[in-house]
Amino acid sequence: MTTTAAARGRARTPEVASYRMYIDGKFVDARGGSTFDVYDPSTEAVVARVPAGGAEDVAGAVEAARRAFYQAGWKNVSAQERGRILFRIAERIRSRRAELAELETINSGKPIAESEYDMDDAATCYEYYGGLATKIHGEVMPVPADAVAFAMREPMGVAGQIIPWNYPLLMAAWKIAPALAAGCAVVIKPAEQTPLTLLRLAEDFEAVGLPPGVVNVVTGDGPGAGAPLVSHPDVRKIAFTGSAEVGRLIMRNAADQLKRVSLELGGKSPNIFFSDADFENAVDGALFGTFVNQGEVCSAGSRVLVQRDIYSKFVDAAAAKAKTIRLGPGLDRDTKMGPLVSAEQRDRVAGYLKTGRGEAKVAVGGGRPKQFDKGWYVEPTIFYDVDNAATIAQEEIFGPVMSVIPFTDEAEAIRIANATPYGLAAAVWTRDIFKAFRVVKALEAGIVWVNHMQPTFVEAPWGGYKASGFGRELGHWGVEEYLETKQVFINLDEKPIGWY
Ligand code: NAI
Ligand code: MG
Repeated sequence: MTTTAAARGRARTPEVASYRMYIDGKFVDARGGSTFDVYDPSTEAVVARVPAGGAEDVAGAVEAARRAFYQAGWKNVSAQERGRILFRIAERIRSRRAELAELETINSGKPIAESEYDMDDAATCYEYYGGLATKIHGEVMPVPADAVAFAMREPMGVAGQIIPWNYPLLMAAWKIAPALAAGCAVVIKPAEQTPLTLLRLAEDFEAVGLPPGVVNVVTGDGPGAGAPLVSHPDVRKIAFTGSAEVGRLIMRNAADQLKRVSLELGGKSPNIFFSDADFENAVDGALFGTFVNQGEVCSAGSRVLVQRDIYSKFVDAAAAKAKTIRLGPGLDRDTKMGPLVSAEQRDRVAGYLKTGRGEAKVAVGGGRPKQFDKGWYVEPTIFYDVDNAATIAQEEIFGPVMSVIPFTDEAEAIRIANATPYGLAAAVWTRDIFKAFRVVKALEAGIVWVNHMQPTFVEAPWGGYKASGFGRELGHWGVEEYLETKQVFINLDEKPIGWY
């Protein structure tokens, strides 16, 4: 507890709580006994100690998942029952919404209203896959009349899941829910920055009817706990969301065992504004697309492409509005932007701000806000006259930093929009439906929004083109990632085959 936090009148004094990880239906310490600290980004205070899991903890969790799947019979639990378990998890999240949202904000820094949305979205995700569990169908193929051929869908087995810190409980939902709907068992590793809400939710896993070992939560850092999960021979599939750098490493490490991998690796998404767009909405959409969740969003529309005839007016209006964004601790309901998740992330973003000051002009922000003496805050920042080849236009910053780039016509907008290694998301703002559709078709991105940016629905596919990764989460696509396909052929012709 810092005096600074007390001086700001924080409602509660953070206590250092001890958490344990969840393996085989029990809360346990790391076998090696070590722990790591977890922080409140608004005070920089340690709020929890969490087990630092290592290879032996991962091995124990994978063994528990294997036992649950193969011996204890999770793979034969009916789809209806798996669906009911998922509905009950959703119900627990809804009934613990206030508590979980508060903990999410304390641990991640995000504004409390955004944490509340995340809890609702997480619950909705479990509900969606609870319903989908009973709709996983095979297919029958039109082979000749003296045979039957069909394709069965079967769970892969033990799935390893590694998630980031920007939407902690929600990203866990995106991975756990479809895996359970498919009938897999799970070993999941939350990000070391933000393990708390998932550990809290795990308190309910037994009560909702999850047999021991079906979902295991191993805490620890990437090299210590993530890497052994990727290379464990009994893990059939790795689902990962995080940096492109670690995505590449995971793919390499999974190659020896030809393990299946799905990767969501963020991006540098273009948000394209034509001069015929509704101006007020456009400015709002640019700010929301870049600054929501402090800009710690894989689909952040951080490259703002603006047509030249509205360019200056747009930059001025966006800068004026960005100045009014209220920074502060996430638990304060007036806060619109919280601190970044960690000192490391703040420093990474600060490095890009320095680079950006040398590459482009600053319309607003560009540094650390003066009003806080604690907390990993960064000013909402708008760079303009950015060259698309600049570092701040090419690399994912993952903080509240917008790069505004002018364009002349549709062809130039499309060319710039596609000129990055990434291809997760994009948005286009125009009132011309012909232009909107032409641009939608030309964009190399897995998600394209028209006249909005960021709305995300569990029913619709999520994932990237190019270096943003592969595989799709959410919707029926999400469950596919955890299913094998078995072709079955049945001979109905009792005559000898008669070949030899
Ligand atoms: P990261 O990719 O290192 O961490 C994400 C997850 O991967 C965490 O759970 C971490 O423990 C795990 N991990 C790290 N190294 C690993 C390894 N060798 N094997 C297995 N798992 C490993 O991301 P980090 O360092 O927190 O952030 C760096 C940058 O990554 C951000 O600035 C942002 O650009 C990007 N990022 C993208 C996200 C997205 O949603 N696509 C989410 C988080 C970060
Ligand atoms: Mg990292």
